[in-house]
This record gives sequence, C-alpha cells and structure tokens, in this order.
Amino acid sequence: MSSSTPLVGLPAWGGSSRRLTFEETGIEQSGFSSAPVDPRRFLWSAVNSLVGLLDLKDQVTGTHGAHMSNWALGMTKMLDLSSIEIEDIQIASTLHDIGKIGIPDAILKKEGPLTPEEWKIMDRHPEFGWAITREIIGMERISLYILHHHEFYNGNGYPAGLKGETIPLGARIITILDCYDAMTHDRPYRKALTPERAVGELKKFVKVQFDPVLVELFEHYILHPSTSSTAIV
Ligand SMILES: [Fe+2]
Repeated sequence: MSSSTPLVGLPAWGGSSRRLTFEETGIEQSGFSSAPVDPRRFLWSAVNSLVGLLDLKDQVTGTHGAHMSNWALGMTKMLDLSSIEIEDIQIASTLHDIGKIGIPDAILKKEGPLTPEEWKIMDRHPEFGWAITREIIGMERISLYILHHHEFYNGNGYPAGLKGETIPLGARIITILDCYDAMTHDRPYRKALTPERAVGELKKFVKVQFDPVLVELFEHYILHPSTSSTAIV
C-alpha cells in the first residue's frame, strides 16, 4: 500500500500537521443527544472501530475479513436462522482474526515459514480475539464464534479440541470461508485456485476439518448462486 492510500474507513490525512476541524470530524454540534442508542447500532459502531484497528495493524487481514463477511451473509440466508443470528455470524466473520492485533509483527508479517515456537504464539490469536470481543455488550455469542474458528470437525483443531456440532455453528461456517478465501488468493508459494478447485479441496476434508452439510451448502452458494436463494437446510 502506498503511503498516500487512505486506510479503509479513515480520512486521507496524509500525515499533515494541520489540525482536524470540528466540521471535518463529521459530528454535528446538534447531534449530541442523551437518547438511548439502539443496541445493534451500538454493536456495529464497535465492529467498525475494531475493523479500523485491525486495518492499522495489518490491512491484508482486514480485507480478508471483509470478503468473508459478504459470503457469510449470503450463505447464512440459506439457513433457517433469525436475523440476529445471521448478523452475529456476519460480524464474527469480519472480526474472526481480530486477535492478530496481539501477535508481534515479526511473526505476523514474517516472509518465511514460522518456527514451532512462533506457531505457538500465532495459534493464540483466537483466544486473544475472544478476550477482546467478549468485553463488548452484545458480542457474547460472536466472541465464541471467534474463539472456536480454528476447531476441526473431527476434534483435532484448537484451542479447545471441540468436535462435530459441539463447535458453534458460526465457527463451523467461518472455518470454511477462511480456508476458501486463502485458497482463492495468490500466495508467495502458489497461485490462487479457481472456485471449483477450491471447493473440491474443501470437499476432501469434510468430516475431518469441515462440517459436511455446511460445505455442501457453501458449494451451492458459491458455485450455483442462481439456485441457492432459498433455504435448503
Ligand atoms: Fe484465524
């Protein structure tokens, strides 16, 4: 990213020493009110703030969360869930790697492979994310989705080694979207896979890493969007 590119959601300030005027804050003087704030509106304001924080730390991770948020919204609409549950899964998808804020840059941005000791630190990011988000009112369930987003369906994941449907639904969805997004983007050691090949890789690991029913649902959503607008689960 060039130094003149504004960070997502932040004004193009460009390191100027000029002071921000009151008008430029976007706050209207008459806008201060003691009226109660809608809890979901408050929640989204906290989400946007955390996304901004993650962008400051590592814009790659922030952009990754934005892709996943869109897919989570599309996929969860095919499930028989309440609008609050759908929104919670969408928010958890956006923030699933927020705990990487606690990972030192020397590890998070290391070009070469991590050492076993470095992996031990990296693997703590779900716990860090849970610790940050569980403090926010309204994010109790979201924080659990974040905590468990690296569990495996067969129980061999982390941090808790949960198995099958004991893994919260949102976390089982996030792990599918997370791996799909990684596979469909270029990496230094390989080119991005096509959507068809990436779905094929997901299918190889059903009942090992992924929930088989949710992988089938995701395949419908991502490869056959015209036939996936109605609830099938
Ligand atoms: Fe993660």
